[in-house]
Amino acid sequence: MISFVTTNKGKFVEAKKIAEKFSIEIRWVNLEYPEIQGESLEEVAYFSIKFLSKEIDDMFFIEDSGLFINSLKGFPGIYSSYVFKTIGNEGILKLMEGVKDRSAYFKAVVAFYDRSEIHTFIGITEGRIANEIRGDSGFGFDPIFEYNGRTFAEMGEGKNEVSHRRKALEKFFSWLTKNF
Ligand code: IMP
Repeated sequence: MISFVTTNKGKFVEAKKIAEKFSIEIRWVNLEYPEIQGESLEEVAYFSIKFLSKEIDDMFFIEDSGLFINSLKGFPGIYSSYVFKTIGNEGILKLMEGVKDRSAYFKAVVAFYDRSEIHTFIGITEGRIANEIRGDSGFGFDPIFEYNGRTFAEMGEGKNEVSHRRKALEKFFSWLTKNF
């Protein structure tokens, strides 16, 4: 049994479903932890793991993700949750007004602590920033992230089949079955 530390129940439920395919059982640890203002998702995750390793006497993993817009040099990236809470989807669309290159990607980092080392697993899904807000499923930047012509918020459950989070979690669980 491996603990997933997150305050987001939706993330836990999604991870649990994926873990089942690998016959892995995961437990939800609903614990808040500080996120530093680092340069990359990986750096932020390392710091969080170091902090949590003093609190949790077991193997555990965390997951952190963000939206990276190429023409904005990767913004909002590691600031995604802050940017979503402040300027939101409307704010991003405003920043992108008149911008030709609308390519963007979501990136997820799963960081696993085996009580001695940290192992990271990356998942990336590429798409583009839509011209307008579309769809009503999902959360966060889903209504402005277009994947094969539809926004993530127009894809319903289909989003979870192709998401950055799924890719990172599948890499992690597949590694886990071989190494533990
Ligand atoms: P977190 O810190 O991993 O929970 O994610 C940071 C922020 O990135 C969230 O608040 C969302 O705004 C955004 N984000 C991450 N993953 C997704 C996604 O799958 N869809 C939409 N927004 C996302």
